[in-house]
Parts: sequence; structure tokens; C-alpha cells
Amino acid sequence: MAADVLIAGGLVAIPTETVYGLAANAYDTEAVVRIFDMKQRPLFNPLIVHTSDINRLSDFAGPIPPVLQEIAKQCWPGPLTILLPRGERIDPLVTAGSALVAVRIPAHSLTRKLLERLPFPLAAPSANLFGTVSPTTAQHVAAQFGDRLGYILDGGPCAVGIESTIIKLGEKGLVEILRPGGIPIEKLVDILAYTPLQVTLANNAPEAPGMLKSHYAPRIPLLLGDLSQLLKTHGHRKIAVLSLQPVRGLSPHIPHIALSSRGDLHEAARNLFSALRHLENSEAEVILAEPMPETGLGIAMNDRLQRAAS
Ligand code: TXA
Ligand code: MG
Repeated sequence: MAADVLIAGGLVAIPTETVYGLAANAYDTEAVVRIFDMKQRPLFNPLIVHTSDINRLSDFAGPIPPVLQEIAKQCWPGPLTILLPRGERIDPLVTAGSALVAVRIPAHSLTRKLLERLPFPLAAPSANLFGTVSPTTAQHVAAQFGDRLGYILDGGPCAVGIESTIIKLGEKGLVEILRPGGIPIEKLVDILAYTPLQVTLANNAPEAPGMLKSHYAPRIPLLLGDLSQLLKTHGHRKIAVLSLQPVRGLSPHIPHIALSSRGDLHEAARNLFSALRHLENSEAEVILAEPMPETGLGIAMNDRLQRAAS
């Protein structure tokens, strides 16, 4: 069913281990235009192209630079996106005019089976309206797009819960991280340990044009900082609280989500976007949130929280 819709030029929401994607045939320009329309996404914000196998990359992208090959081998299938030279079959619309195309091999078994059956790769941004929180369940997708979509492939809740890490080989031979994500920076550093390369985090990355400051905005303001401080200054308002571990002494009337009772950052990442959706739909007028530890997936989570806060 999902394959039929895609072959006919329609849009299908696909599960991935990171977030749900809004997918179309990456070779079909009209179908790709429909993605931008449906998401109300500006055309300057390029799309990631998904495929099932590293051997299929050469259909639509240039080769992986030798220094990134070990990373690709160890992280794919998985939450990693690499920028590669754009092949001829990819319309510049997909890459917003860039000579580089973002490529990913996702790990979710349903989507891998789908990709294996299709004679084309899938262009897919996250399946949410532009500027809103990314979806990590089929229900999140249905709530925004419902029957306007050809099909929603329900693969359950996303196992990683935060978007892929985007990298490219930079000018000076450095591995640049354009967006921190589901592959922790520490893992990239480990893989590169025996090469003279360094990893840099492009911190104001307008280079990944989707990295607009307010990209993950919840519907109500989010304030990020030390919780006890925030509670002192904003405790009189209608607040909701988002923390890593449970906060003691909060009034039971305050909507509160602890992302992981044992402080596990994988579990916390899995819960982050659902939690934001839940709290923005609560009766609160402001969300008070604390930053995560700056390690592992905490780095990507802080990136999203900072965007949500600005
Ligand atoms: O985990 C993910 O990456 C999910 C799943 C569905 O694969 N996709 C996702 O797509 O997060 P999206 O469109 O929400 O974010 C893609 C990011 C954007 O910030 C965009 O600017 C950047 O990737 N990007 C895509 N193509 C690019 C290119 N050619 N050059 C630079 N940045 C690019
Ligand atoms: Mg997105």
C-alpha cells in the first residue's frame, strides 16, 4: 500500500528510528513539491534523501570521501546523515540549489523493507508542519496531517527519538557536524581516533538551512535554565515543568514530565518530543525546562531545547 502510493507520486509518512518522515519519490519533482506544500516549508530548506543500502548511493550521489567511510560503515543503517555531491537524478529543488545532497540509510525495519522494494530513493523531511516539534509516533503525524496524507505507515514509537546527526567533510579536511543528533559526537570522535581528523560542531550552522533558531518551537513559550531559579521567578504563573529526573516538592496540579526517572539520556531523547507536545497542549502558559548534561545525546537534546526556547 505505502509503495503503491509512492510509485503513484503520493506522500507517505514513514517511521524511522529518529522521527517520522514525510516521504516522496526523490526523483519525482512534482511529488517533492508536494512535500514542501504539505509541510508549509520554505523552499530554501533542503531535504534528506533516504535509501536502503550503501551500494545504491551511487545512483544519486557522489562517493563517500575516504575519511568518512569508516563512519558510514559503523553508523549506517542508523541516525546519521552525510552530505555528498548531488547526482544528476536529484533535482536541485531537493537540495535547495546546493551541489551537495544529504543522504541517510535509516534503521527502522519497516522503512528498510519499503526502501528495498522501491526503484527510487525517498526524499523525506520530518513529518511535521514547518517550525513545529518533530513527530515520534504515527499519532503525532495523524494529528497534524490526518487524511491529507496518502498513507501513514505506523511503525510504533521511534527508538531514538531525535533527528539524525548531519555531517560533511569540511574545507580543511575537518569532519563538520552541521546538526547534533542521534549519533553522539563522542562516537564520531572514537571512530576517527586513529586518523588525524578532528570533529567540529558548526555552532551557528546556517549551512544546514533548516537550523533556524526557532525551528522546534512549541506553541507556548519555553524557558530553559536552572529549575529552582525558574520556579522562584515564574512559580506564580500557569507553568508546566520538563526535567530529566523527577522534581520533588512540585504541586501535583503542575503538569510535569521527567524524561527518564533514572536519568538515562537515551530514554530521555526517546521521550523529548512527545513530552514537548504533551506540555504545549496542557493548560500551562509557559514551560520551564532544565538543560540536559552536555554529553552523549544530551548535546542534541540541548540543541533542540535551545531552539524551542528562542
Ligand atoms: O532523522 C532525520 O534526519 C529525519 C528523518 C525523517 O530522516 N529527517 C529530518 O529532516 O530531520 P528535516 O528536513 O526535518 O531536517 C533536515 C536537515 C535540515 O536542517 C536541512 O537544512 C538539512 O538537513 N539539509 C538537508 N539537505 C541539506 C543539504 N544539501 N545541505 C545542507 N543541509 C541540508
Ligand atoms: Mg524537521
